[in-house]
Amino acid sequence: MSDTGQAAAPFVRRGGDLYCEQVALQGLAQRFGTPLYVYSRRSILDALQQYEQALAGRAALVCYAVKANSNLGVLGLLARAGSGFDIVSGGELSRVIAAGGASSRVVFSGVGKTAPEIERALRAGIRCFNIESEFELQQVSQIAGRLGQRAPVSLRVNPDIDAGTHPYIATGLKSSKFGVAYAQAAQLYRRAHADPHLQVVGIDCHIGSQISQAAPFEQAADRLLDLVEQLERDGVRLHHLDFGGGLGIAYRDETPPSIGQWVGAIRRRVDARGHQDKVLLVEPGRSLVGPAGALLMRVIGLKGGAGGNFAVVDAAMNDQLRPALYEAWMDVQPVTERALPRRTYDIVGPVCESSDWLARERPLAIEAGDVLAMLSAGAYGMSMASTYNSRCRPAEVIVDGSDVHCVRQRETIDDLIAGESVLP
Ligand code: LLP
Repeated sequence: MSDTGQAAAPFVRRGGDLYCEQVALQGLAQRFGTPLYVYSRRSILDALQQYEQALAGRAALVCYAVKANSNLGVLGLLARAGSGFDIVSGGELSRVIAAGGASSRVVFSGVGKTAPEIERALRAGIRCFNIESEFELQQVSQIAGRLGQRAPVSLRVNPDIDAGTHPYIATGLKSSKFGVAYAQAAQLYRRAHADPHLQVVGIDCHIGSQISQAAPFEQAADRLLDLVEQLERDGVRLHHLDFGGGLGIAYRDETPPSIGQWVGAIRRRVDARGHQDKVLLVEPGRSLVGPAGALLMRVIGLKGGAGGNFAVVDAAMNDQLRPALYEAWMDVQPVTERALPRRTYDIVGPVCESSDWLARERPLAIEAGDVLAMLSAGAYGMSMASTYNSRCRPAEVIVDGSDVHCVRQRETIDDLIAGESVLP
């Protein structure tokens, strides 16, 4: 990181060619094939360091939201750098452990934890269950009782705040399925406090994702602190405050607060209200890994028609779902600049769905065979990939300076049909 606290851009153009750190993307596409996810190790670690710096001198834990990118290579990097983890399934817990992460730094979120998942997490000794309902509180208590344990719990409180983001990724409104209703929280806390199989350790919230304003976070923090103070008056003391994730990144022209600004704003609010004694937790996903990744794809062919021009590429909605699902705008650039006339293209994949598009109306100077890079694709890219249309999922590599590590082999058709069978 530079002195200004700004991380160096993970993808830069040198002499017309796009690089990740010291490695040309053109060569990576050749060596590993396309579609290919490429991540910059330094970018991920720089982002974590920005969180650590903003929290320096305070008891705190960054719990990376595994769902954003759950590749073992990524998790291992973060685990070694001391990160904690926010998980939402037993599968994610297995990944964290396989990557060398410590269970004692894991918080478990999610509206539908199953009994086997709860038992597994208790046996593994996770740091906290982020409880999202009354029924979950009961279930965790019951399972902990059976195992002769006291389960550490936090209630995920729904602060009823409009995060101003896409409705599919807003989670903090009253109408949302997430969390415990604000009005119900104090009563549930009292119950948990009196339960011998539960240990109340914290409070948490998460109001949505890709949030580019500071105000909704500040409102949510204030609502949470109001509740914390009410609980303290009732004799329920909390050990940690978890403000979730949700900080946006600049895909196009968004101007979200920086990591330092976001964490700083929360930290100041918490301290100003006299809660220096509490451990601060955050659960960032996108802001840690989003800018670090690119999806490489090759142009299969170009076609024109009455409705416009299409660049048909070998990546599709199964490899990158964000445009189809949220109409998300993702930057797409040619990996090597060429002296060709620019034309406006819709970039589409081979999947048989009209929603299978990756970018619309992009002026590009390209021809068949060219490699394109979709930037800021490190979060919610590969982790949301599917095998629809029996397409094998991409390989993933992590670039470290001039070194390249393949952290996931390209899926094969044998992987795809393993476990299936025809009738006898
Ligand atoms: N904590 C909880 C409880 C969450 O549900 C999430 C994300 C996070 C933390 C991390 O949020 P982040 O810092 O990444 O915004 N697939 C969507 C995003 C879904 C986010 C779901 N929850 C997308 O591609 O935009």
